[in-house]
Amino acid sequence: MDKLLTLLVLLNIQTLATLSHPSDETPPQLDGRIIGGESTTIQQFPYQVSLRHNGFHFCGGSIYKSNIIITAAHCVKGEDVTRLTVVAGSSYTNQGGIELPVQNYTFHSKFSLLTCDYDVAVLLLQGEFSFSESIQPIEMASSVSASRAGTSVTISGWGYLQEHGYPSDVLQYVVVNTISEAECVDAYPRLFTDRMICARAKNKDACNGDSGGPMVVAGRLAGIVSWGNGCADPKYPGVYSNVAILRSWIEENTLELLKQLK
Ligand code: ARG
Repeated sequence: MDKLLTLLVLLNIQTLATLSHPSDETPPQLDGRIIGGESTTIQQFPYQVSLRHNGFHFCGGSIYKSNIIITAAHCVKGEDVTRLTVVAGSSYTNQGGIELPVQNYTFHSKFSLLTCDYDVAVLLLQGEFSFSESIQPIEMASSVSASRAGTSVTISGWGYLQEHGYPSDVLQYVVVNTISEAECVDAYPRLFTDRMICARAKNKDACNGDSGGPMVVAGRLAGIVSWGNGCADPKYPGVYSNVAILRSWIEENTLELLKQLK
């Protein structure tokens, strides 16, 4: 059963890898919705960004500094930095906003595609976003208690509306609840680690294309959309990287990237 699960999760990630390396002729249909969410505007989620590969949305991210984005390692590992850009300030994937090229990125050295453990990366942008009503940074949650079991957390993104979903251009959000480690271990034996937070709600979840995007508690970044078996499957919660645990890695690696500017 464990092996089967690992395989399923891997297949899921590989689907994403295919989606995030679109051939130049076929634009990917990856601007769908969060599952069970509602349309919103970027002014409500001004820290949300869209990661682009050759101009096409493939993952979410969060603005940490005017030129630093927090996202998932599985979004960028192996990506050619010259093809990556970040769009902030638009509710839509197909229009508006400000687009900046990615100059460099760092993902966690312990990240593994096999387990999705340590699924965190920071991107350094070429240039800086000017903050406005629709572009703002978000601070990280400082304590793991921010996301203890039973907390309502808000997730957002342009990912799939259904597991095999259709695209929507409009930013979506949904509120789900964190569950205990024990419950998550039950769902994902051997896969759950301390670097993860699990959350679910009936018929609500993140899905493909939301990865790298924010999970927010009380206005702070508590999680990063990471993985799940299917989307909104009642047996399988969504899994998020635990930002409070990965916080010092993010801070140190942000400083390292910023040194490259001097
Ligand atoms: N790995 C997916 C992505 O790259 C995110 C999956 C989240 N899945 C979930 N059921 N919460 O977009």
